[in-house]
Amino acid sequence: MQHIKLVNIVGARPQIIKASAISRAIRLHFLDKITEITIHTGQHYDKELSEIFFDELEIHKPDYNLGVGSAHHGRQTSMMITGIEEVLLKEKPDCVLLYGDTNSTLAGAIAASKLHFTVIHIEAGLRSFNKSMPEELNRIMSDHSSTLLFAPTNAAFKNLMSEGFRPENSPPYTIDNPKIYFTGDIMYDNTLFFAELAEKKKASFLATLSVEKDNYILVTIHRDINTDDTNRLKTILTTLKTLAEKHSVPLVMPLHPRTTTSLKTRLPSFYKNLQESRLLKIILPVSFLEMTLLEKNSRMIITDSGGVQKESHFFRKPCLVLRKETEWVELVKNGTAVLVDADSEKITSELDRFMKQSSDLDYPGFYGNGKTAEFILKEIMMLFEKV
Ligand code: UD1
Ligand code: UDP
Repeated sequence: MQHIKLVNIVGARPQIIKASAISRAIRLHFLDKITEITIHTGQHYDKELSEIFFDELEIHKPDYNLGVGSAHHGRQTSMMITGIEEVLLKEKPDCVLLYGDTNSTLAGAIAASKLHFTVIHIEAGLRSFNKSMPEELNRIMSDHSSTLLFAPTNAAFKNLMSEGFRPENSPPYTIDNPKIYFTGDIMYDNTLFFAELAEKKKASFLATLSVEKDNYILVTIHRDINTDDTNRLKTILTTLKTLAEKHSVPLVMPLHPRTTTSLKTRLPSFYKNLQESRLLKIILPVSFLEMTLLEKNSRMIITDSGGVQKESHFFRKPCLVLRKETEWVELVKNGTAVLVDADSEKITSELDRFMKQSSDLDYPGFYGNGKTAEFILKEIMMLFEKV
Protein backbone atom coordinates (compact mmCIF):
# COMPACT_ATOMS: atom_id res chain seq x y z
CA MET A 1 0.00 0.00 0.00
CA GLN A 2 1.24 3.46 -0.91
CA HIS A 3 2.36 5.49 2.13
CA ILE A 4 2.39 9.26 1.84
CA LYS A 5 4.52 11.80 3.62
CA LEU A 6 2.62 15.07 3.81
CA VAL A 7 3.97 18.40 5.05
CA ASN A 8 1.49 20.94 6.47
CA ILE A 9 2.50 24.59 6.42
CA VAL A 10 0.81 26.72 9.09
CA GLY A 11 1.69 30.05 10.69
CA ALA A 12 -1.37 32.18 11.43
CA ARG A 13 -4.31 31.44 13.75
CA PRO A 14 -6.90 30.39 11.12
CA GLN A 15 -4.45 27.99 9.47
CA ILE A 16 -3.78 26.19 12.73
CA ILE A 17 -7.53 25.76 13.20
CA LYS A 18 -7.98 24.58 9.58
CA ALA A 19 -5.13 22.09 9.94
CA SER A 20 -6.99 20.50 12.86
CA ALA A 21 -9.68 19.25 10.44
CA ILE A 22 -7.02 17.51 8.33
CA SER A 23 -5.16 16.19 11.38
CA ARG A 24 -8.37 14.73 12.78
CA ALA A 25 -9.32 13.07 9.47
CA ILE A 26 -5.82 11.55 9.22
CA ARG A 27 -6.11 10.19 12.77
CA LEU A 28 -9.56 8.74 12.10
CA HIS A 29 -9.21 7.37 8.57
CA PHE A 30 -5.64 7.40 7.24
CA LEU A 31 -3.36 6.70 10.19
CA ASP A 32 -1.58 3.82 8.45
CA LYS A 33 -1.45 5.61 5.07
CA ILE A 34 -0.32 9.17 5.75
CA THR A 35 2.53 10.54 7.84
CA GLU A 36 1.93 14.15 8.77
CA ILE A 37 4.74 16.63 9.38
CA THR A 38 3.92 20.21 10.40
CA ILE A 39 6.02 23.29 9.79
CA HIS A 40 4.90 26.32 11.84
CA THR A 41 6.45 29.44 10.36
CA GLY A 42 6.06 31.38 13.61
CA GLN A 43 4.06 34.14 11.89
CA HIS A 44 1.76 34.08 14.93
CA TYR A 45 3.61 33.51 18.19
CA ASP A 46 1.46 34.85 21.06
CA LYS A 47 -0.02 32.04 23.12
CA GLU A 48 -3.58 33.24 22.31
CA LEU A 49 -2.92 33.14 18.56
CA SER A 50 -1.03 29.86 18.36
CA GLU A 51 -0.23 27.47 21.23
CA ILE A 52 -3.75 27.59 22.66
CA PHE A 53 -5.12 25.89 19.51
CA PHE A 54 -2.59 23.03 19.44
CA ASP A 55 -3.52 22.17 23.01
CA GLU A 56 -7.27 22.58 22.77
CA LEU A 57 -7.94 21.09 19.33
CA GLU A 58 -5.55 18.16 19.71
CA ILE A 59 -3.64 19.08 16.59
CA HIS A 60 -0.47 17.36 15.48
CA LYS A 61 2.17 19.56 17.17
CA PRO A 62 4.67 21.38 14.92
CA ASP A 63 7.68 19.26 14.07
CA TYR A 64 9.48 22.46 13.07
CA ASN A 65 8.90 26.02 14.29
CA LEU A 66 10.78 28.54 12.17
CA GLY A 67 10.20 31.35 14.70
CA VAL A 68 9.95 33.99 11.99
CA GLY A 69 7.75 36.45 13.94
CA SER A 70 6.44 39.81 12.74
CA ALA A 71 8.11 41.91 10.02
CA HIS A 72 7.30 43.74 6.80
CA HIS A 73 5.86 41.47 4.12
CA GLY A 74 9.02 40.93 2.08
CA ARG A 75 11.29 40.27 5.03
CA GLN A 76 8.79 38.02 6.79
CA THR A 77 7.99 36.01 3.66
CA SER A 78 11.64 35.64 2.65
CA MET A 79 12.62 34.31 6.09
CA MET A 80 9.78 31.80 5.84
CA ILE A 81 10.85 30.69 2.35
CA THR A 82 14.40 30.08 3.54
CA GLY A 83 13.26 28.07 6.55
CA ILE A 84 10.65 26.03 4.66
CA GLU A 85 13.12 25.24 1.88
CA GLU A 86 15.62 23.79 4.38
CA VAL A 87 13.00 21.54 5.94
CA LEU A 88 11.63 20.36 2.59
CA LEU A 89 15.12 19.46 1.37
CA LYS A 90 15.63 17.41 4.52
CA GLU A 91 12.18 15.76 4.70
CA LYS A 92 11.58 15.22 0.96
CA PRO A 93 7.79 14.90 1.35
CA ASP A 94 5.39 13.58 -1.31
CA CYS A 95 3.31 16.74 -1.06
CA VAL A 96 2.98 20.08 0.70
CA LEU A 97 -0.40 21.18 2.04
CA LEU A 98 -1.20 24.89 2.14
CA TYR A 99 -4.15 26.53 3.87
CA GLY A 100 -5.78 29.85 3.05
CA ASP A 101 -4.05 33.04 2.03
CA THR A 102 -1.50 34.30 4.53
CA ASN A 103 2.16 35.09 4.02
CA SER A 104 2.89 31.60 5.40
CA THR A 105 0.76 30.15 2.56
CA LEU A 106 2.66 32.16 -0.04
CA ALA A 107 6.06 31.21 1.41
CA GLY A 108 5.08 27.54 1.32
CA ALA A 109 3.90 27.84 -2.29
CA ILE A 110 7.13 29.46 -3.45
CA ALA A 111 9.51 27.20 -1.51
CA ALA A 112 7.73 23.98 -2.47
CA SER A 113 6.94 24.68 -6.11
CA LYS A 114 10.48 25.90 -6.90
CA LEU A 115 11.84 22.64 -5.50
CA HIS A 116 9.25 20.73 -7.59
CA PHE A 117 7.33 19.34 -4.63
CA THR A 118 3.63 18.78 -5.28
CA VAL A 119 1.63 21.66 -3.81
CA ILE A 120 -1.95 21.19 -2.62
CA HIS A 121 -4.03 24.25 -1.81
CA ILE A 122 -6.96 24.05 0.56
CA GLU A 123 -9.28 27.08 0.20
CA ALA A 124 -8.31 27.63 -3.43
CA GLY A 125 -10.06 30.04 -5.77
CA LEU A 126 -11.30 32.64 -3.31
CA ARG A 127 -10.96 36.13 -4.72
CA SER A 128 -11.80 39.61 -3.46
CA PHE A 129 -10.75 41.18 -6.81
CA ASN A 130 -8.84 43.72 -4.73
CA LYS A 131 -5.11 43.31 -5.23
CA SER A 132 -4.29 45.93 -2.60
CA MET A 133 -5.06 43.20 -0.05
CA PRO A 134 -1.93 41.17 0.74
CA GLU A 135 -4.11 38.06 0.92
CA GLU A 136 -5.33 38.46 -2.69
CA LEU A 137 -1.77 38.31 -4.05
CA ASN A 138 -1.01 35.36 -1.77
CA ARG A 139 -4.06 33.45 -3.03
CA ILE A 140 -3.40 34.00 -6.71
CA MET A 141 0.25 32.98 -6.45
CA SER A 142 -0.52 29.94 -4.28
CA ASP A 143 -3.25 28.71 -6.63
CA HIS A 144 -0.97 29.05 -9.64
CA SER A 145 1.76 27.00 -7.90
CA SER A 146 -0.57 24.11 -7.05
CA THR A 147 -1.32 20.68 -8.50
CA LEU A 148 -4.51 19.96 -6.55
CA LEU A 149 -6.79 22.91 -5.80
CA PHE A 150 -9.68 22.44 -3.39
CA ALA A 151 -12.22 25.27 -3.78
CA PRO A 152 -14.57 25.59 -0.79
CA THR A 153 -17.42 27.21 -2.73
CA ASN A 154 -18.99 27.19 -6.13
CA ALA A 155 -17.94 30.82 -6.63
CA ALA A 156 -14.30 29.94 -5.85
CA PHE A 157 -14.43 27.05 -8.35
CA LYS A 158 -15.75 29.42 -11.02
CA ASN A 159 -12.99 31.95 -10.24
CA LEU A 160 -10.42 29.25 -10.95
CA MET A 161 -12.07 28.43 -14.27
CA SER A 162 -12.03 32.07 -15.28
CA GLU A 163 -8.28 32.16 -14.57
CA GLY A 164 -7.75 29.31 -17.03
CA PHE A 165 -7.90 26.25 -14.74
CA ARG A 166 -9.73 23.47 -16.59
CA PRO A 167 -12.09 21.08 -14.80
CA GLU A 168 -11.71 18.58 -17.67
CA ASN A 169 -7.98 17.97 -17.04
CA SER A 170 -7.19 14.27 -16.62
CA PRO A 171 -4.40 12.49 -14.71
CA PRO A 172 -1.50 12.50 -14.23
CA TYR A 173 -1.93 15.86 -12.52
CA THR A 174 1.02 18.25 -12.29
CA ILE A 175 1.60 21.94 -11.67
CA ASP A 176 1.05 22.39 -15.44
CA ASN A 177 -1.96 20.09 -15.56
CA PRO A 178 -3.65 20.81 -12.24
CA LYS A 179 -6.89 19.35 -10.90
CA ILE A 180 -9.57 21.63 -9.47
CA TYR A 181 -12.36 20.53 -7.13
CA PHE A 182 -15.43 22.11 -5.54
CA THR A 183 -15.36 20.41 -2.16
CA GLY A 184 -17.03 22.40 0.60
CA ASP A 185 -15.19 23.96 3.49
CA ILE A 186 -13.07 22.15 6.07
CA MET A 187 -14.05 24.84 8.59
CA TYR A 188 -17.61 23.54 8.40
CA ASP A 189 -16.21 20.13 9.41
CA ASN A 190 -14.65 21.84 12.42
CA THR A 191 -17.78 23.67 13.46
CA LEU A 192 -19.85 20.49 13.33
CA PHE A 193 -17.22 18.67 15.35
CA PHE A 194 -16.52 21.32 17.98
CA ALA A 195 -19.89 23.07 18.56
CA GLU A 196 -21.23 20.56 21.08
CA LEU A 197 -17.86 20.20 22.76
CA ALA A 198 -17.73 23.98 23.18
CA GLU A 199 -21.09 23.96 25.01
CA LYS A 200 -19.86 21.19 27.32
CA LYS A 201 -16.36 22.41 28.03
CA LYS A 202 -16.99 26.16 28.14
CA ALA A 203 -20.41 26.21 29.79
CA SER A 204 -19.53 29.01 32.22
CA PHE A 205 -17.73 31.26 29.75
CA LEU A 206 -20.66 33.62 29.04
CA ALA A 207 -21.17 34.19 32.76
CA THR A 208 -17.51 35.15 33.21
CA LEU A 209 -18.14 37.94 30.68
CA SER A 210 -21.46 38.88 32.33
CA VAL A 211 -23.42 38.35 29.12
CA GLU A 212 -26.46 36.20 28.36
CA LYS A 213 -27.36 33.90 25.48
CA ASP A 214 -28.86 35.79 22.49
CA ASN A 215 -28.29 39.10 24.16
CA TYR A 216 -24.85 40.27 23.04
CA ILE A 217 -23.15 41.04 19.75
CA LEU A 218 -19.79 39.45 18.92
CA VAL A 219 -17.25 41.75 17.24
CA THR A 220 -13.83 40.99 15.75
CA ILE A 221 -11.56 43.44 13.90
CA HIS A 222 -8.08 42.62 12.66
CA ARG A 223 -7.67 43.40 8.97
CA ASP A 224 -4.96 45.91 8.06
CA ILE A 225 -7.42 48.23 6.27
CA ASN A 226 -9.20 48.71 9.60
CA THR A 227 -6.35 48.51 12.12
CA ASP A 228 -3.85 50.68 10.27
CA ASP A 229 -6.26 53.43 9.25
CA THR A 230 -7.04 55.42 12.39
CA ASN A 231 -10.05 57.14 10.84
CA ARG A 232 -11.70 53.86 9.89
CA LEU A 233 -10.92 52.25 13.24
CA LYS A 234 -12.26 55.22 15.19
CA THR A 235 -15.40 55.49 13.04
CA ILE A 236 -16.19 51.79 13.41
CA LEU A 237 -15.67 51.72 17.17
CA THR A 238 -17.46 55.01 17.85
CA THR A 239 -20.46 53.81 15.85
CA LEU A 240 -20.51 50.44 17.60
CA LYS A 241 -20.31 52.06 21.05
CA THR A 242 -23.23 54.36 20.21
CA LEU A 243 -25.28 51.40 18.95
CA ALA A 244 -24.49 49.30 22.03
CA GLU A 245 -25.85 52.14 24.17
CA LYS A 246 -28.90 52.72 21.94
CA HIS A 247 -29.94 49.04 22.06
CA SER A 248 -28.56 48.35 25.57
CA VAL A 249 -26.72 45.38 24.18
CA PRO A 250 -23.21 44.35 25.23
CA LEU A 251 -20.51 43.90 22.58
CA VAL A 252 -18.03 41.08 23.18
CA MET A 253 -14.79 42.02 21.44
CA PRO A 254 -11.89 39.55 21.48
CA LEU A 255 -9.36 41.83 19.82
CA HIS A 256 -6.40 40.67 17.73
CA PRO A 257 -3.13 42.11 19.19
CA ARG A 258 -2.70 44.12 15.98
CA THR A 259 -5.88 46.05 16.78
CA THR A 260 -5.04 46.54 20.46
CA THR A 261 -1.54 47.78 19.58
CA SER A 262 -2.99 50.21 17.08
CA LEU A 263 -5.49 51.56 19.62
CA LYS A 264 -2.90 51.84 22.38
CA THR A 265 -0.31 53.61 20.28
CA ARG A 266 -2.40 55.76 17.93
CA LEU A 267 -5.59 56.44 19.89
CA PRO A 268 -4.68 56.07 23.60
CA SER A 269 -7.36 58.30 25.13
CA PHE A 270 -10.07 56.95 22.83
CA TYR A 271 -9.00 53.40 23.80
CA LYS A 272 -9.21 54.30 27.52
CA ASN A 273 -12.69 55.64 26.94
CA LEU A 274 -13.76 52.41 25.20
CA GLN A 275 -12.34 50.31 28.03
CA GLU A 276 -14.37 52.28 30.57
CA SER A 277 -17.67 51.51 28.82
CA ARG A 278 -19.80 48.98 30.73
CA LEU A 279 -21.21 47.59 27.47
CA LEU A 280 -17.93 47.00 25.63
CA LYS A 281 -16.23 43.79 26.74
CA ILE A 282 -12.78 44.19 25.20
CA ILE A 283 -10.89 40.96 25.85
CA LEU A 284 -7.80 39.08 24.66
CA PRO A 285 -8.24 36.71 21.70
CA VAL A 286 -10.09 33.62 22.86
CA SER A 287 -9.61 29.91 22.18
CA PHE A 288 -11.52 28.26 19.32
CA LEU A 289 -13.94 26.53 21.71
CA GLU A 290 -14.63 29.84 23.45
CA MET A 291 -15.06 31.55 20.09
CA THR A 292 -17.41 28.81 18.91
CA LEU A 293 -19.49 29.25 22.05
CA LEU A 294 -19.52 33.04 21.63
CA GLU A 295 -20.63 32.73 18.00
CA LYS A 296 -23.29 30.10 18.70
CA ASN A 297 -24.95 32.11 21.47
CA SER A 298 -24.65 35.60 19.99
CA ARG A 299 -27.47 37.75 18.67
CA MET A 300 -25.45 38.98 15.71
CA ILE A 301 -21.83 39.08 14.53
CA ILE A 302 -19.81 42.05 13.28
CA THR A 303 -16.43 41.27 11.75
CA ASP A 304 -13.80 41.83 9.08
CA SER A 305 -12.59 38.22 9.40
CA GLY A 306 -13.11 35.70 6.61
CA GLY A 307 -13.43 32.77 8.98
CA VAL A 308 -15.82 34.50 11.36
CA GLN A 309 -18.10 35.57 8.45
CA LYS A 310 -18.60 31.92 7.52
CA GLU A 311 -19.03 30.81 11.09
CA SER A 312 -21.85 33.38 11.41
CA HIS A 313 -23.59 31.40 8.66
CA PHE A 314 -22.87 28.01 10.27
CA PHE A 315 -24.56 29.29 13.44
CA ARG A 316 -27.37 31.06 11.56
CA LYS A 317 -26.48 34.56 12.78
CA PRO A 318 -26.79 37.75 10.77
CA CYS A 319 -23.42 39.32 10.04
CA LEU A 320 -22.17 42.83 9.31
CA VAL A 321 -18.91 42.72 7.36
CA LEU A 322 -16.57 45.66 8.00
CA ARG A 323 -15.19 45.59 4.46
CA LYS A 324 -16.07 46.83 0.96
CA GLU A 325 -15.94 43.36 -0.57
CA THR A 326 -15.81 39.72 0.48
CA GLU A 327 -14.55 36.44 -0.93
CA TRP A 328 -17.58 34.66 0.55
CA VAL A 329 -20.00 36.23 -1.93
CA GLU A 330 -22.76 33.66 -1.37
CA LEU A 331 -23.31 35.07 2.13
CA VAL A 332 -23.97 38.55 0.78
CA LYS A 333 -26.18 37.24 -2.05
CA ASN A 334 -28.15 35.38 0.60
CA GLY A 335 -28.80 38.66 2.42
CA THR A 336 -27.69 37.34 5.81
CA ALA A 337 -24.30 39.06 5.59
CA VAL A 338 -24.08 42.71 4.59
CA LEU A 339 -21.02 44.68 3.50
CA VAL A 340 -21.10 47.79 5.70
CA ASP A 341 -17.46 48.84 5.18
CA ALA A 342 -16.51 51.47 7.80
CA ASP A 343 -19.59 53.52 6.96
CA SER A 344 -21.29 54.73 10.11
CA GLU A 345 -24.71 55.13 8.45
CA LYS A 346 -24.66 51.66 6.89
CA ILE A 347 -23.48 50.02 10.10
CA THR A 348 -26.29 51.77 11.98
CA SER A 349 -29.11 51.04 9.54
CA GLU A 350 -28.15 47.37 9.03
CA LEU A 351 -27.63 46.72 12.73
CA ASP A 352 -30.99 48.33 13.53
CA ARG A 353 -32.64 46.21 10.83
CA PHE A 354 -31.13 42.93 12.04
CA MET A 355 -31.95 43.73 15.69
CA LYS A 356 -35.63 43.82 14.65
CA GLN A 357 -35.63 40.84 12.29
CA SER A 358 -33.29 37.96 12.93
CA SER A 359 -35.32 34.80 13.47
CA ASP A 360 -36.91 34.32 10.02
CA LEU A 361 -33.68 34.40 7.97
CA ASP A 362 -32.68 31.46 5.77
CA TYR A 363 -29.18 29.87 5.92
CA PRO A 364 -28.74 27.36 3.06
CA GLY A 365 -25.94 24.76 3.18
CA PHE A 366 -23.29 26.37 1.00
CA TYR A 367 -20.26 24.71 2.54
CA GLY A 368 -20.45 20.97 2.03
CA ASN A 369 -21.42 18.02 4.21
CA GLY A 370 -18.93 18.32 7.08
CA LYS A 371 -16.70 15.60 5.62
CA THR A 372 -14.57 17.77 3.36
CA ALA A 373 -11.25 16.92 5.03
CA GLU A 374 -11.84 13.21 4.48
CA PHE A 375 -12.69 13.83 0.81
CA ILE A 376 -9.53 15.90 0.32
CA LEU A 377 -7.34 13.19 1.85
CA LYS A 378 -8.91 10.51 -0.37
CA GLU A 379 -8.14 12.60 -3.44
CA ILE A 380 -4.55 13.11 -2.26
CA MET A 381 -4.17 9.32 -1.87
CA MET A 382 -5.55 8.85 -5.40
CA LEU A 383 -3.04 11.33 -6.81
CA PHE A 384 -0.19 9.13 -5.70
CA GLU A 385 -1.85 5.84 -6.60
CA LYS A 386 -2.04 7.03 -10.18
CA VAL A 387 1.61 8.08 -10.44
C1 UD1 B 1 -2.45 37.54 9.28
C2 UD1 B 1 -2.78 37.33 7.80
C3 UD1 B 1 -4.27 37.54 7.57
C4 UD1 B 1 -5.10 36.69 8.53
C5 UD1 B 1 -4.64 36.92 9.97
C6 UD1 B 1 -5.35 35.94 10.86
C7 UD1 B 1 -1.02 37.95 6.20
C8 UD1 B 1 -0.55 38.97 5.25
N1 UD1 B 1 -2.07 38.29 6.96
O1 UD1 B 1 -2.73 38.89 9.58
O2 UD1 B 1 -4.61 37.19 6.26
O3 UD1 B 1 -6.45 37.06 8.40
O4 UD1 B 1 -3.23 36.68 10.06
O5 UD1 B 1 -5.34 36.35 12.18
O6 UD1 B 1 -0.45 36.88 6.27
N2 UD1 B 1 1.11 40.26 16.26
C9 UD1 B 1 1.20 40.04 17.60
N3 UD1 B 1 1.33 38.74 18.02
C10 UD1 B 1 1.38 37.68 17.18
C11 UD1 B 1 1.28 37.94 15.79
C12 UD1 B 1 1.14 39.23 15.35
O7 UD1 B 1 1.16 40.94 18.42
O8 UD1 B 1 1.49 36.52 17.63
C13 UD1 B 1 0.93 41.67 15.80
C14 UD1 B 1 2.27 42.32 15.44
O9 UD1 B 1 2.20 43.66 15.80
C15 UD1 B 1 2.29 42.21 13.93
C16 UD1 B 1 0.81 42.35 13.58
O10 UD1 B 1 0.11 41.69 14.64
O11 UD1 B 1 3.07 43.18 13.31
C17 UD1 B 1 0.43 41.72 12.25
O12 UD1 B 1 0.76 40.33 12.24
P1 UD1 B 1 0.85 39.53 10.85
O13 UD1 B 1 1.05 38.09 11.12
O14 UD1 B 1 1.83 40.19 9.97
O15 UD1 B 1 -0.55 39.77 10.19
P2 UD1 B 1 -2.02 39.61 10.78
O16 UD1 B 1 -2.62 40.97 10.84
O17 UD1 B 1 -2.01 38.78 12.00
N1 UDP C 1 -10.94 32.90 16.29
C1 UDP C 1 -10.62 32.40 17.56
N2 UDP C 1 -10.46 33.30 18.57
C2 UDP C 1 -10.58 34.64 18.40
C3 UDP C 1 -10.91 35.13 17.11
C4 UDP C 1 -11.06 34.24 16.07
O1 UDP C 1 -10.52 31.19 17.75
O2 UDP C 1 -10.42 35.39 19.39
C5 UDP C 1 -11.11 31.95 15.19
C6 UDP C 1 -12.41 32.08 14.45
O3 UDP C 1 -13.42 31.33 15.08
C7 UDP C 1 -12.06 31.56 13.06
C8 UDP C 1 -10.62 31.97 12.90
O4 UDP C 1 -10.13 32.23 14.21
O5 UDP C 1 -12.15 30.16 12.99
C9 UDP C 1 -10.56 33.20 12.05
O6 UDP C 1 -9.29 33.75 12.12
P1 UDP C 1 -9.00 35.29 11.85
O7 UDP C 1 -10.22 36.08 12.05
O8 UDP C 1 -7.80 35.63 12.64
O9 UDP C 1 -8.53 35.27 10.32
P2 UDP C 1 -9.25 35.19 8.90
O10 UDP C 1 -10.24 34.08 8.91
O11 UDP C 1 -9.84 36.52 8.61
O12 UDP C 1 -8.10 34.94 7.97
